[in-house]
Amino acid sequence: MLSGVEIKEGRTRLLVPERHSSHGPGTRTSDVFFNRQMAFGRDVSVMLLKALERNTVSVADAMSATGSRAVRVANEVKNTTVTANDADPKAIPYIDYNISLNSLSNCVSSNMDMHVLFSDQSFDYVDIDPFGSPVQFIQSAVRGCKKKGIIAVTATDTAPLAGAQAGKCRRKYQSEPIRGYMCHEGGLRILMCVMAKELAKFDRGMKPLLSFYADHYFRVYAQVEEGADATDRSLGQIGFMHYDPATLKRSTSEYPDVRHSKGPFWLGPLHDKALLGRMNAESLEDEKRCVKMLRLWRNELDEKVFLYDVSELSSFTKMSPPKMDDLLDALNAAGRAAPTHMSPTSFKTDLETEDVISVYRESSPDSGK
Ligand SMILES: C[S@@+](CC[C@H](N)C(=O)[O-])C[C@H]1O[C@@H](n2cnc3c(N)ncnc32)[C@H](O)[C@@H]1O
Repeated sequence: MLSGVEIKEGRTRLLVPERHSSHGPGTRTSDVFFNRQMAFGRDVSVMLLKALERNTVSVADAMSATGSRAVRVANEVKNTTVTANDADPKAIPYIDYNISLNSLSNCVSSNMDMHVLFSDQSFDYVDIDPFGSPVQFIQSAVRGCKKKGIIAVTATDTAPLAGAQAGKCRRKYQSEPIRGYMCHEGGLRILMCVMAKELAKFDRGMKPLLSFYADHYFRVYAQVEEGADATDRSLGQIGFMHYDPATLKRSTSEYPDVRHSKGPFWLGPLHDKALLGRMNAESLEDEKRCVKMLRLWRNELDEKVFLYDVSELSSFTKMSPPKMDDLLDALNAAGRAAPTHMSPTSFKTDLETEDVISVYRESSPDSGK
């Protein structure tokens, strides 16, 4: 007899183990994994797949656990055929139960190692959501992705990617991470760099559709592009960065040198704004949060790399921070600036660093203006 609790997420009913995570990245236990907080991540998958405007989409949720993402996609996105796969045999009764709980005829369970699954079958959309780092799974995911397909990757190993465990980042991602205010943008761009490099081994390029940091994980959705030109274009977006704490200047370079020692990073866009424009948060589990995040992603200055943070400017100038909205208004009077989704105190701008600092000084309540 399968035990658990029944919940509703979005428009979908799910049976999940009684003992499950509600916060943070979730921990590996002997039970089948489920994390309530990841509902937002599953909402985003549903929104993105709905916005694709493709006639039919074959979906592989390669590490499905209870089948929560797969079953939601099959139930909430029209014209999908979904394979909910997990290597753990204990996961399969949950997946099968959840398929029948929602009376789905377009979803099947599969109990295979994802490397075996993708050596044999390919799909329009491939999703990998492992415990911790996805690096050892990305190559198989690329293999399992059909021509011009979409690959979605989660990384919950934020400590290495965001520089708290730099040695582990060097070993796993062959990249030098950034500590401090830009650590999450750095981590996201390291993950994207590794994805672009894995795709390049197959003469395939990468066009990011949506890439974000939330609740202790990184998530990237990328459209696969075929051929040598597309591959060269995406490898051309990889580079290194230098951050000078004495001036707050950040600069990027195609090649590493003594100064440009952080990275490599993906330095191209994080999102496809046209796709974001078609995404709609209606009827999702956390509609309010999805609306808020959609607004942030749509408005980010995606052509600029490496954000500024109000705390960084405050500790550099030793002046109290202005209200975020007042600072953004002042920056926008001088150039362009917009908040980023990485933190409520961060923004990207096309202004030179000296100008950012002087606008900050003038906007600070300590300026006496
Ligand atoms: C973090 S959980 C997935 C959570 C799920 N996507 C969700 O939204 O609830 C990771 C899952 O990957 C499975 N897994 C680990 N290695 C695997 C492999 N090589 N092939 C297939 N599944 C694997 C584990 O059994 C586990 O259920």
